[in-house]
Amino acid sequence: MDALTESALTARRNAHAPFSHFQVGAALEDDGGRIHTGCNVENATYGLTVCAERVAVFKAISEGARKFTRIAVAADTDVLTPPCGACRQILWEFCGDVELILVNPRGKTETFRLKDLFPRPFDASFL
Ligand code: THU
Repeated sequence: MDALTESALTARRNAHAPFSHFQVGAALEDDGGRIHTGCNVENATYGLTVCAERVAVFKAISEGARKFTRIAVAADTDVLTPPCGACRQILWEFCGDVELILVNPRGKTETFRLKDLFPRPFDASFL
C-alpha cells in the first residue's frame, strides 16, 4: 500500500463516531505532494456531522493548498465505501476529476476517477 492509502487508514483511527461507530479516514494529496488528512467528526444533532473527505478538503484549503491529484478514503467494509453525495459535490468543486482510491484495513483497494462516480456535475461553470 502506498503512503496515501496508509495515511487514510491512519487518519481513520481519529474518527469521532460515537453515534454510528462507522469510522472513516481520508487522505488528500496536493500538487506539491503534501498529504492532508481527515476523519469523520460526528455531532449529537447528527445532521452537523462532517465526513472524512470534507474535513480533509477543508483542512487542505485552509492550509493554502489549491490543486489536488489524488484522494484515498478508508473504511472497514468489504464492499469498499465510496464518498457520499455531498462529498462528491465538494470533491468535484475543489479537486475536479481527481483520482479516488478506496481502501479497507485488509488492504483491498479500488481506484476510480471522480467523474465516473459523479457524472454531469453542477459547478461554477453554470453560474
Ligand atoms: N462518512 C464519511 O465520513 N465518509 C463517507 O464516505 C461515508 C460516510 C461518515 C459520516 C458518518 O459519520 C458515518 O460515516 C456514517 O454515515
